[in-house]
Amino acid sequence: MKLLITGGAGFIGSNFIHYWLKNHQEDKIINLDLLTYAGNLENLKDVEQNSNYKFIKGDIGDANLVNDLVKEADVIVHFAAESHVDRSIMDAKSFVDTNVLGTFNLLEAAKNNGKKRFHHISTDEVFGALKSDDPAFNEQTPYSPRSPYAASKASSDHLVRAYFHTFSLPITISNCSNNYGPYQFPEKLIPLFVTNLLEGKKVPVYGDGMQIRDWIHVDDHNRGVDLILQKGKIGETYCLGGNSEKTNMEITKLILGYLGQGEEMIEYVKDRPGHDRRYAIDFSKAKEELGWEPLIGFEDGIKKTVEWYKNNQEWWQRIKSGEYLEYYKKQYGEK
Ligand code: NAD
Ligand code: TYD
Repeated sequence: MKLLITGGAGFIGSNFIHYWLKNHQEDKIINLDLLTYAGNLENLKDVEQNSNYKFIKGDIGDANLVNDLVKEADVIVHFAAESHVDRSIMDAKSFVDTNVLGTFNLLEAAKNNGKKRFHHISTDEVFGALKSDDPAFNEQTPYSPRSPYAASKASSDHLVRAYFHTFSLPITISNCSNNYGPYQFPEKLIPLFVTNLLEGKKVPVYGDGMQIRDWIHVDDHNRGVDLILQKGKIGETYCLGGNSEKTNMEITKLILGYLGQGEEMIEYVKDRPGHDRRYAIDFSKAKEELGWEPLIGFEDGIKKTVEWYKNNQEWWQRIKSGEYLEYYKKQYGEK
């Protein structure tokens, strides 16, 4: 099988490529990634020489390129997106361009090249925010996105579903909760806080720090995507979650503890505008239909993740200094 992975140089996509090449050694992967600030080929150094793996630098907004690559693929797994809520608050244009129009290009190409199997990676943020006693999100929860990021992902989900109903495109969608693990760009909560502390800097907690996210290890997410590709029902959505609701403050204190630092390293900063209070996922459908559930407990997963950032300081230091941006030129030449 030949897979076209979009956004494979980012956090979840690069972990997916590692996972897939290990678990499906007969398959071929093409990784299409624009290498925005979030794309880092150093995440994939160890598979660069694998003959089943090929990297193409390009924009999912480039309809001709996308059409040529989709034509060659059996399956498209679509991770590419602008993914950071705070950036979407500062400037939402690239979120609409990539998340909405880029997804549209991929869907058109999939439709026009023999209706290719298409899996769309989405987020629980499309459902909006929960109150403390609300039941967790599930596949029936109405969409109510509240940030430009969430709204752009919600738009793309609607387009994907429309291509199933209107054109019988064989799609599936996964809406997953907050991921953590290796290779996460150090602008997101966990890698930012770990790397700041390793550099002797404080950690910026937004507002009262009592917002809740349902944390899932990236490997559990990617195993869920694999099962959806194998056993998921065409046209269906699957909610994937970590069964691990934690406040930001709980996470901050855990990280401080693992790194032997005290609460004087916390800096309370102005809250994010429109900050969603709580996300949580009910993954019973994935459990019943796919036999999927998260296997990595949060305490164990976060401990190993902190260790990973401690043991891979060069990886994140090269991001924080901007040196990682030179890697593509060095490996592939200027294009
Ligand atoms: P990321 O920001 O780490 O990576 C995104 C990747 O997409 C980068 O490599 C970037 O270069 C690439 N990209 C951006 N615009 C592109 C374009 N126009 N053309 C081609 N490539 C482009 O994001 P992530 O955290 O790995 O998230 C991957 C997907 O998973 C996204 O669709 C996101 O919405 C979804 N998701 C993320 C989380 C999470 O907690 N991180 C949770 C649920 C769902
Ligand atoms: P983030 O990792 O940006 O993911 P998302 O907003 O998509 O859930 O943020 C996770 C939580 O951590 C969210 O409630 C915002 C909060 N947060 C901080 O308190 N400080 C920070 O510096 C960052 C990046 C996030």
